[in-house]
Amino acid sequence: MRFVLAVAASALCVLAAKLEPADGKVVFGVWFDGTADTSIYSGNDTAAKVNDRLGFNVGSFQMWQSLPLEHKPEMAPLQNDDGSINMDMLNEGTDASLFLTVYPKSLAVNDSDILALANQCADIIKSGRNVFLRLAPEMNGDWFPAYSRQPAQYIAFWQKVHGVVTGVAPQVAFVWGPNYHGPSTQDTYDPYWPGADYVDWVGISLYWKGFARDWPWAVNNLSPINYTSDIISGVLPEAAEDNFYAKFAEKYNKPFVICETAAGFIMSSYNPTTKVVSPVSPGPGRAELQLSFWKSIFNDDVLRKYPRFKMVFAFEMYKREDNMDRDFRATTDPESLKAISGLLETMDKKGVMAWAKSSAATSATSSAADQVTTTKAVASVSPTASKSSGFKVQIAGIVGLVVSLLL
Ligand SMILES: *[C@@H]1O[C@H](CO)[C@@H](O)[C@H](O)[C@H]1NC(C)=O
Ligand SMILES: *[C@@H]1O[C@H](CO)[C@@H](O)[C@H](O)[C@H]1NC(C)=O
Ligand SMILES: *[C@@H]1O[C@H](CO)[C@@H](O)[C@H](O)[C@H]1NC(C)=O
Repeated sequence: MRFVLAVAASALCVLAAKLEPADGKVVFGVWFDGTADTSIYSGNDTAAKVNDRLGFNVGSFQMWQSLPLEHKPEMAPLQNDDGSINMDMLNEGTDASLFLTVYPKSLAVNDSDILALANQCADIIKSGRNVFLRLAPEMNGDWFPAYSRQPAQYIAFWQKVHGVVTGVAPQVAFVWGPNYHGPSTQDTYDPYWPGADYVDWVGISLYWKGFARDWPWAVNNLSPINYTSDIISGVLPEAAEDNFYAKFAEKYNKPFVICETAAGFIMSSYNPTTKVVSPVSPGPGRAELQLSFWKSIFNDDVLRKYPRFKMVFAFEMYKREDNMDRDFRATTDPESLKAISGLLETMDKKGVMAWAKSSAATSATSSAADQVTTTKAVASVSPTASKSSGFKVQIAGIVGLVVSLLL
């Protein structure tokens, strides 16, 4: 019996992680701004509009809510009146997954609030979408004081939420995502690591706003082609010597996701005293700047050097921060859209991209080989066409059976 268990367990180890796309594929995801607040300038977006602009079915959409839920009128219609995400904003009619970012309001959230989150995830999965849970991200910075920079309490909180959510919705993939080391003084990643048994995917937030040496950033510059690579592997001068990829993705063999990313094109500067908005030189121009940054992600070197890189989320928003008006969107003005969708098309032709399937077509077009993953039990685990995940579930079932026979 012990021999059987050992064999089954070692078979599990070599298989794909939860919701991992097929070998060699990368999921392009989008975090869109669906708010109605016109003062932010980037509202009114929906999943369907994103897909229409790009001409591809984006593989995953990011949305956020608080834990416990909190009513935020300014987030309508992205959030319902109770503060939960409004699934109607995902009106694109595909099987794209949901990448749910959850910001805790403290690390002492009670069990009933965590259970409500677990049930919400289970309901979304039942409705036909895979769910990633990006819990309490960027915990190594100082801008989320409710939960950041408290490593011991953070890890205890994480493990508790992991237990409750996977107890109710075992298919949810837990994403652990600190913030990249830029010029500011974030903590290192290590103190916040919840442990390999509690994490399915590892990732970071990563932005191009300028060279580290130029902080505070006020000028539009092209991104170097090696920018993203240097951040991921912690190479100076752009990042601290903290190699995220080696320490977490490689060491624990976890899929790696760039949880939110963009180039911030500066439109104007803002003087908070006089309230005057002043123009800023476009430098090389918006589309060139956007393309230089996205090429630092989608290039052959990155794909070869980081085989566990599996997903990336474009932060499609306009934001005033540090008294600069930055447009992070790469798909709204016609020139940037042309450049970025062209880059995605090039990657698509190389067979790199994993797009969502349109919901209506799923059953009609799935091949015989895919049928395994479309049975009721497995479909909710793996619409992203990972056959090995389906296999993993079956093996897990066998292990469970053997264990229960032993007891
Ligand atoms: C969003 O829609 C409203 C109502 O149609 C409109 O007034 C506003 O200008 C739009 N905002 C943006 C950023 O498109
Ligand atoms: C949990 O906290 C919520 C507030 O977030 C409160 O409404 C609820 O009564 C609490 N439940 C328990 C069992 O303490
Ligand atoms: C990346 O490029 C910059 C020049 O843009 C260079 O200074 C840096 O050393 C390069 N990094 C690596 C790891 O080659």
